Amino acid sequence: MPLMLFMVVARWAAARAQAGVYHEGVDLLQRRLDLEQTNLCNSPIAPEDTIRPIEEVASLRGEDGWCYFGSTGLWARNCGLSRRSKNMMVFVLTYEVGYIPVLAGPWATEKALFFEDGRRMTLRDHDMPLDDAYCFVNGWYNLPRAQVVKNFTFLEEVSEAACKDLEKKVPNYHSITLSDIYAEADQSQAILVELMASSSPVVYANQTLLDNMYFHAATKCALGGRFGFCIAWPGCCWLGQRLQAFLAHSGKQAKIGQCAARGVLRRPRSSL
Ligand SMILES: *[C@@H]1O[C@H](CO)[C@@H](O)[C@H](O)[C@H]1NC(C)=O
Ligand SMILES: *[C@@H]1O[C@H](CO)[C@@H](O)[C@H](O)[C@H]1NC(C)=O
Repeated sequence: MPLMLFMVVARWAAARAQAGVYHEGVDLLQRRLDLEQTNLCNSPIAPEDTIRPIEEVASLRGEDGWCYFGSTGLWARNCGLSRRSKNMMVFVLTYEVGYIPVLAGPWATEKALFFEDGRRMTLRDHDMPLDDAYCFVNGWYNLPRAQVVKNFTFLEEVSEAACKDLEKKVPNYHSITLSDIYAEADQSQAILVELMASSSPVVYANQTLLDNMYFHAATKCALGGRFGFCIAWPGCCWLGQRLQAFLAHSGKQAKIGQCAARGVLRRPRSSL
């Protein structure tokens, strides 16, 4: 069997086995993998476009930013594919396999994180704490999960409203470039990783992190034009239910809300 084909089959089989664990998703995973085999949303990016405002790039290239910048990674590409097919599950399933071990392992020690505005969340993700902080700060853990995951129209409405609000909050909203996205994410991730490494169970983030989380959301709006679309749920909404299914499968119980934060899992880590 040619190596490429072997890799595709092995990946499919691994993904399929994983889906079985959660009692759902095989067809969806297959559809996602089929889509990933196409060349949609995977074209090379003109180097100058990484430092041009994304809004300008999108109109210049006549394409959705998520799709145009798809070759930078699945975070962008699978959102672009979801938007094209109006099927959010393409994106939802992108990180399913990876997040479970990150959130359920013995390394997932909890930190209570306080923000400058007085809000407090619990973080368990030591790998990409940015995702969690970003969902929390922007209020996306409070959305109705079934609507967010299954109703494209609803998600577009939520995204559009969020983007309008962010347009007022984020000063350079209309001039965000791809390189700004990376710079902000690197800074935010560095701040959070340092906090997560602290020996204290309670940590405090300064105003920069709060500003960055709004900026982070605004970058998703830039990619999606009026509809950020993937802003409202990568890791925000689906994960709680996935973890619940995973825990139930392994004979464990966990009380998790609709769009539960990963941090909502308050059980001692040894019970996971
Ligand atoms: C989907 O969302 C739209 C917009 O919020 C709403 O009008 C519609 O009733 C929803 N559809 C379903 C099946 O819930
Ligand atoms: C917040 O902390 C980071 C590093 O931890 C620092 O680079 C930044 O300047 C601080 N921001 C403010 C407003 O103090």
